[in-house]
Formats: sequence, structure tokens, C-alpha cells
Amino acid sequence: MSTYIEDWSWKDFDEVGSTNDEAKKHFISSDIKKFVVTAKRQSSGRGRRGRNWVSIDGNLFASFVLDFEPKYIGVLSFIVSLSVFDVIKNLSSNIDIKLKWPNDVLVEGKKISGILVEKGEGDSFVVGVGVNIVGYPQDINPLYHATSLQELGIITDRIVILKNYISVFNKYLELWKKSGFAAIRDIWLKNAKNIGQRIIVKFEKEEKEGIFYGVDDNGYLLLEHKGNIERIYAGDVFF
Ligand code: BTN
Repeated sequence: MSTYIEDWSWKDFDEVGSTNDEAKKHFISSDIKKFVVTAKRQSSGRGRRGRNWVSIDGNLFASFVLDFEPKYIGVLSFIVSLSVFDVIKNLSSNIDIKLKWPNDVLVEGKKISGILVEKGEGDSFVVGVGVNIVGYPQDINPLYHATSLQELGIITDRIVILKNYISVFNKYLELWKKSGFAAIRDIWLKNAKNIGQRIIVKFEKEEKEGIFYGVDDNGYLLLEHKGNIERIYAGDVFF
């Protein structure tokens, strides 16, 4: 099925390997500048840093293709996580929801979504968004607690989330074009978990503990560590 949601051309599949891969394939032959692929079922979902994304039927699997200057790629990740944040916050007024660098949304301290930004064809980027609507993997890694909207008592479906997401995503893309990254970062930081407090950043072979000082103009994490402010490009944050 192919149609539009707002100004996004939308293709929904019954089953794909990864919506990110499907989006890349379909965009090659397309002149359309904003394109989204979704699937009811995803058999080989991919996560950040080469991990799998266990894809439970009923959750949202969506990949957005849009032209974006590579130098702003860090910004895109903030716009996307802020959009997911707004969508979930708008579903329930008294929800305990926070953002975690680089692009996680935590509800009651647990991961409810995943975002994977990849380079697409030409000037395009592919933004993969997964939202745990009905479930989450139970036994993946005890360090990564997860939850779902259903577990929080919020009953909704992937199409409602997708439509809400597109509306908020368009709003934040406009805000960024009009007011720059600072405007996005301000809102993001206001809702970030442990800003000004202790965090641990884990890398492949080591970890660093320090104070979450903020985010720089490129979206890198600023960690106050042993008296210095260090810029972190990639890593997993723990509290
Ligand atoms: C993460 O590791 O937190 C990122 C997970 C991203 C998952 C989404 S689901 C839709 C899209 N297709 C994929 O294969 N991955 C992303």
C-alpha cells in the first residue's frame, strides 16, 4: 500500500527484513523528498552499534528517508528523539519520561524506543524508528531495562503513533530550520535524564564516569571527567 501522511509519501509492508534497508531500496528510484516505510513485521531489525533489534509484532517499525546535509547528522538524531518523546508524552500527561543521549527515550527509566540513523542514497539519510507499543524483548540484557506503552497502560497502535510522529517531526524540522540546533538542544536538555549529575559512559573496551555537562553544537555529549570537559562521539550512557 502506498499513500501520503501529511507531506510524507508512505509505503506499508506486511513483512520486511529491516525497514531501514527497504527504505534505502525504494528511495533509489524516487524523486520524492520525504519518504517513509513501515512494516507490520520485521524479521531482521537492526539496532545501534551492530546490535539486533528484536521486533515484536504490533510495535512500530518505521524508516524515514529525507535529504539532510551530512554535517548536521548529529542534529537529526536529536530532532528524532525529541519527536518520539513528544508523541509519548502527549499520550499520557503524568508519565515519567526522559531523554538519554544520544537518542533514547526512557519511560520510568526504561527504554521504550530505538533510533538508528544511517546514510542513504545521494544526499539522503535514513532514520529508523522503533517504538515498543505492545511488547519488548524480555531477556536481552539485564543492563538495558525496557518497557512498552501497553505495559504502562496505554493502548494504541502503530498507525496512530506513526501519524502523531510525522506531525511532531515536521514541527521540529521546521523549528530547526527557523531557529537552529540551539532551539532543539534547549528543549532536549530540559528533558534529559541526569543533566548536571553523575553518569557512566560505556565504550567497547572501557568506561568513564563523570558529570553530564551538556551537549555541544554538533550533538556530542560533554562529560566533566577528572576536571576536564570531554567530548564524547559514541557510547552507551548509564545512570
Ligand atoms: C537502537 O539500538 O536503540 C536502535 C534501534 C532501531 C530500531 C528501528 S525499528 C525500525 C528500523 N529498522 C531497523 O532495522 N532498525 C530501526
